[in-house]
Amino acid sequence: MPAEVAGGYIVGIDSFISSNTAHFSMEVWSEAPTEDRAQGARAQLPEKSKLDRGEDRQFYDAPRLVTHVDDTFLEKVTQLYRQRIPEGAAVLDLMSSWVSHLPPERRYSKVVGHGMNAAELARNKRLDSFFVRDLNAEPDSWALPERSFDAVLCCVSVQYLQQPEKVFAEIFRVLKPGGVCIITFSNRLFYNKAIQAWRDNSGFGRVQLVKQYFLCVEGFTEPEALNDVDLSEAPQPQGLAAVLQNAQKLFRRVQGDPFYAVISYRNIKVVH
Ligand SMILES: C[S@@+](CC[C@H](N)C(=O)[O-])C[C@H]1O[C@@H](n2cnc3c(N)ncnc32)[C@H](O)[C@@H]1O
Repeated sequence: MPAEVAGGYIVGIDSFISSNTAHFSMEVWSEAPTEDRAQGARAQLPEKSKLDRGEDRQFYDAPRLVTHVDDTFLEKVTQLYRQRIPEGAAVLDLMSSWVSHLPPERRYSKVVGHGMNAAELARNKRLDSFFVRDLNAEPDSWALPERSFDAVLCCVSVQYLQQPEKVFAEIFRVLKPGGVCIITFSNRLFYNKAIQAWRDNSGFGRVQLVKQYFLCVEGFTEPEALNDVDLSEAPQPQGLAAVLQNAQKLFRRVQGDPFYAVISYRNIKVVH
C-alpha cells in the first residue's frame, strides 16, 4: 500500500483501507507539519483585505452561468481529478457553481456542492445535493460530518477567502484520513473581491500562499504544487469534435490560461 504519512508514521491505516476501494502503493514521508509549524504558518498569514468591502452574498446574488477559465485549463482540472480521485469517492466541490469539472465517465458515491448562488448550484448536474454559505462570514462549523469525504475540491476560487486558516481546518475535519484536497487556480479573478495578498502576488507567490494555507493545519501532508497536467492520456474526442478541438488548441497555444494546482492529503498520501 503506497502512502505518505503526516508525522512520519502511518495513522489508522486499517480503517483507511476498509473505507476506500482504490488500489495503492506505499511511500512513507518522514517530515511532518508539526503544531509549531502550523502556528508559525497561521501567524504569518498576509493581508486579506479586499478592495470591494461590500457583502459577498450581494456580489454573487445574480447567477453567472459562464466558465471562468479557458477549455484547456478545465481539461487539466478534469484530468487531475481523474488521476487523484478514485471511482466511488465521496466528493465535496467547494466554492462551486453550475459546473464541477469532474470526469464525465466517473461515478462517485456522492457529490456535494457548496457555493454562493443556489440557482447556479441547482443547474450543476454532477451534484447530489448542495448548500449555500458565505465562507468569509461563516468560515467554520459546516453542517457536514467529520471524516465524510474522500476529496474536497476548489477550482478558481481560493483567492476570495479571507479566513483561509479556518476554512482549511474545516476541509481537514470533513476529509477522511487519506482524503485529498485539490485547489486549482489561474491568473483570472474578480480583482476587487480577491484578497490583497493574492492581488499583489505572482503565480509563484500565490502557490506559496496556498501551500501556507495547508501548513496552517497540523496533519495535512506536505503540499504538492503543479503547474501543468499531462493531457496525453486524457480521453480524446472523436470525429468533428476532435477536428474542432485541435483547431482551438492551435489558437490557445498563444493565449492559454496558466494552470496551478496545490494538493495535500489528510494524514497520508495514497497513490492509486
Ligand atoms: C470564479 S467562481 C468559480 C466557480 C466554480 N468553482 C468554477 O470552477 O466555475 C468563484 C466562486 O467562489 C465562490 N465564492 C466567492 N466568495 C465566496 C464566499 N465569500 N463564500 C463562499 N464562496 C465564495 C462562489 O461559489 C463563486 O461561484
